[in-house]
Amino acid sequence: MKSIKIHDHTFDIYIDKEMVQKRVQTLAKELKATLQNETPIFVSILNGAFIFAADFMRAYEGECEISFIKLASYEKTQSLGKVKQLLGINEDLTGRTVVVLEDIIDTGTTLQEIYKILGEANVKDLKIVSLFFKPEVFKKELHIDYVGFEIPDNFIVGYGLDYDGLGRNLPEIYKLSK
Ligand code: IMP
Ligand code: MG
Repeated sequence: MKSIKIHDHTFDIYIDKEMVQKRVQTLAKELKATLQNETPIFVSILNGAFIFAADFMRAYEGECEISFIKLASYEKTQSLGKVKQLLGINEDLTGRTVVVLEDIIDTGTTLQEIYKILGEANVKDLKIVSLFFKPEVFKKELHIDYVGFEIPDNFIVGYGLDYDGLGRNLPEIYKLSK
C-alpha cells in the first residue's frame, strides 16, 4: 500500500485520483440536471475547497459564477469547535441561486456558520455540495444536498485538504495511518 509522511504522521492511500475525478464529474452533472437553466453562483469555502471548486466548475456544463469565503475551524488534526471568518463575500447574492462548495463536512460547525452567513443574504435558493462527509461526527440538524463520499471518522489529506498546511497538492486522498 502506498504511504506518505507529512510532518510527524504517516498517511495511507485511500481514494485514487480517477475515483475522485469521476465523482466530481457526476456531482456536477447531477446539479446541472436539477438547476437546468439557472445561472448559479458557486461559493467555495477556502482554503480546503479550492481544488474541488476548480474541478467542479469546469465540469459544470452551463453558465455559472464563483465567489469565495474564507473560514477556518481546524488546527492540525483537531476541530476547534468554533469558526473564524477570515474573508467575506463581496457579491450581492439577493435573488441568486447559491451553491456552496465545501471540501468536507465533519462536526458541521463550519456548515452552521455558512447557513448563518448566507441565511442573511436574501438568496433565492441555497444548495450545499460537499465532496466528503463524516456522518459519525456530524452533530447538527442541517441539510446537505449533495455528498461526494461518506467516510468514517478518519483524518484525510489531499485534493485541497491539508494536514497543518501540507498535502493540498496531492491529487488523490490519503488517510491517517492507525
Ligand atoms: P467542521 O466545521 O467540523 O464540519 O469541519 C469542517 C472543516 O474542517 C473542513 O472544511 C476542513 O477544512 C476541516 N476538516 C475536517 N475534517 C478534515 C479532514 O479529515 N482533513 C482535513 N481537513 C478537515
Ligand atoms: Mg473546508
